[in-house]
Amino acid sequence: MSLAWKKSAIAMVAAGVLVGSMAACSTEREAEPESTGGAAAAEDTVVGIAMPTKSLERWNRDGAHLEGLLQDAGYETSLQYADNKVDQQITQLENMINQGADVLVIAPIDDTALAPTLQQAADADITVIAYDRLLLGTPNVDYYATFDNYGVGTMQGEFIVEALDLENAAGPFNLEPFAGSPDDNNAKFFFAGAWDVLSPYVESGKLVVPSGKQPATNDDWQSIGIQGWSSDTAQSEMENRLNSFYAGGAKVDVVLSPNDSLALGIAQALEGNGYAPGDGYPVLTGQDADQANVLNMIAGKQSMSVWKDTRALGDQVATMIEQIVAGEDVEVNDEETYDNGEKTVPTYLLQPQVITPDTVEVLVDSEFYSADDLGL
Ligand code: BGC
Repeated sequence: MSLAWKKSAIAMVAAGVLVGSMAACSTEREAEPESTGGAAAAEDTVVGIAMPTKSLERWNRDGAHLEGLLQDAGYETSLQYADNKVDQQITQLENMINQGADVLVIAPIDDTALAPTLQQAADADITVIAYDRLLLGTPNVDYYATFDNYGVGTMQGEFIVEALDLENAAGPFNLEPFAGSPDDNNAKFFFAGAWDVLSPYVESGKLVVPSGKQPATNDDWQSIGIQGWSSDTAQSEMENRLNSFYAGGAKVDVVLSPNDSLALGIAQALEGNGYAPGDGYPVLTGQDADQANVLNMIAGKQSMSVWKDTRALGDQVATMIEQIVAGEDVEVNDEETYDNGEKTVPTYLLQPQVITPDTVEVLVDSEFYSADDLGL
């Protein structure tokens, strides 16, 4: 989207109603609503949206949906994708700041890398919403909207417990756990949620990890993290584990994959190693219900995905922006969980949902996909 926003920003500065100054918005600043100078209009508000990459399906959906909503409501928007390159995201944000953004919605590539840029945003009185991923090590983030990230991991762990009937079956089952990108705060929550469910079974010996790639504690999750959530890296890591630890004929029973991009690579590695859908194909988890993964589920190559309806997240962020612009309290439902090292960021948490090969119609019924998209 090209921007004609500078003019309106200058006009707003002149009128003293820069929405950023309404960053009164933040709960801590609720006490001084007079300082907002009154509500602004959507038409006078410029929203910059910084997404990490186009290479993953979900972020394309996220960006397009949020931008569409905001434009329909009359906001000026700039939507930028940064090809998973931190420097590129910083430059894009600096441009948005210089061009007079009032609100920034940011899904960071590296949660800790944006603190200096966010200081520039704060200096320009811009309200910052962390989108899906938290911004760490900065006081300059006003709100966070995301799904219950710990809950995502819990769902993956519980799915594994049920799929293998871990309560009753004798085992032992061979488990290969993976974690997400070490620079993504969400990945820590996904792993902790799953590991809190699974580690008792590892301790009791019902689950064993032949590769030894099992973090000693939740805090060591980065030791099995896949940088940049890369499918290719996940594939080669899985290939290495299969070649090094399963060459003698042992079989993998279950792979804990935190998301769909990793699950795609892991499924490739399994296939390349002779695992075919059907009996003996490992339980494989995922997250996002990306189209390729839903197709894999239908084909028997993935067991589940935790679906986060990105439209609901976009809707919530659009509501937050509306409330910010109107000078109203911003609705949040979690003010305890997301400490970013500098502050506990007021958060709106949405609920994810498990999708299995038997329930993919949910995605069609809700119009997330068409039946055609899924070959149904
Ligand atoms: C998101 C996941 C996504 C992953 C890779 C995480 O921060 O919450 O939905 O699969 O990034 O893009």
